[in-house]
Amino acid sequence: QTTKWMKTRESPREDRPPQAEFQVHPRWKYEHPTSTFRKPMVIGDFSLDQTRKICHDRRNLHYITVDWKHSKKVKYDLNVSYDKTIKKNIQDTKQEKLDRLLDWILNNTSKFHTEQSKGQPLQCLSTDFVCFRGLLTELLCTPYENREGWIICATRFRDTVYLCAYETPEKQAQRQTETDMQKKMCSWGYKFEQYMIDGSDITEGVNENEEYCCVVRSRLESHSLVYGAEVDGADPSLYKTPHRDLSAFIELKTSKEVTSERDQNNMNRYKLKKVVIYYTTLIFNLIFRYKLKKWWSQSYLVGIPNVICGLRDVEGTVHTLQMYKVQDMPQLGKSHWRPHIMMNFVNKFLEFVKKNVQVDDPESVYKFEKQANGGNITCTYLGKDSEWAFLPKWYYEKIMK
Ligand code: A3P
Ligand code: MG
Ligand code: MG
Repeated sequence: QTTKWMKTRESPREDRPPQAEFQVHPRWKYEHPTSTFRKPMVIGDFSLDQTRKICHDRRNLHYITVDWKHSKKVKYDLNVSYDKTIKKNIQDTKQEKLDRLLDWILNNTSKFHTEQSKGQPLQCLSTDFVCFRGLLTELLCTPYENREGWIICATRFRDTVYLCAYETPEKQAQRQTETDMQKKMCSWGYKFEQYMIDGSDITEGVNENEEYCCVVRSRLESHSLVYGAEVDGADPSLYKTPHRDLSAFIELKTSKEVTSERDQNNMNRYKLKKVVIYYTTLIFNLIFRYKLKKWWSQSYLVGIPNVICGLRDVEGTVHTLQMYKVQDMPQLGKSHWRPHIMMNFVNKFLEFVKKNVQVDDPESVYKFEKQANGGNITCTYLGKDSEWAFLPKWYYEKIMK
């Protein structure tokens, strides 16, 4: 991928920052053997409490007992105690940027020392990138996601590039115009987690602020990575403490079932019933394949082997628990998306980031922007820009003295 620096087209002003461009399409550019991805290893963990304060412990690590292999019939009403839910304030959590992860790093500097540097002040983190897993999930899906754009800011500090995702104006507008029903549906996923967690009381309202996060180290080709990831829970029969990888962990999801038996029984005429079932199954399969790509990306990045999906009806009652192996997902996706294309794309994109983010300064920032509707990725150097800079003083003044 060649870097082309150019002046932006919209403005003839000479003082506009220069931009470099990275082309996402055509996808066949990434059609080569997959980039090597090292098994993600856990280097630490933390919890976020009910007020999203960081706690350096495992208070929010949950257990999920799985005493069945493929699927199980249940009846979980995800609307129970909805009025008692304490919602996550997305506006506020977006403002957290990388803060919780940086706080963890500051509290665990010993994990970044090499044999030689032990006992001395930390010189660098010995990793190319620091970010959250969600950002990498979004990057992995980019070759197959034309509609939506994204914004990622980058800052190089002591030879590590920190990456932080920002909400696009389009996504912000979508979020702010959500209907009450859409808001309610967002809470179904959390309620499902509560049903699945050992020992929880489902009559209690869910506090959506609570999290348990793992910090992992991995490598994609030449790029070493440290990233934080919120994880749903572990199977107690497999979990051993302290865990070095996430092979005992389970990702929980909800998804709409094809058509409930009740919907089907409501259709009296045989022919109509057949046509409706045919088309709803078709749409269901398309949506499901699209979802699987996200599920695969999210779990593969941290080495979680299994996803349990609660299949629900339109009213929010889960009737079936279905287990999916992460390794089977590309096959289930029926080649609509291919992991090697996604991994190779991320590898090339990270190369582009490394090459362009040259200024090593905690207050300087580069903005990477993927345009919506099949657009390319641009990189703009913003310099010391207080609007987009995200490394806090409390971090960079203290981490390496
Ligand atoms: P589902 O997974 O059932 O959709 P995660 O699956 O990543 O652990 O997230 C748990 C739940 O948080 C999701 O349940 C969903 O309800 C909610 N959630 C996660 N990301 C979201 C987003 N971008 N917008 C709205 N809700 C989201
Ligand atoms: Mg989760
Ligand atoms: Mg989940």
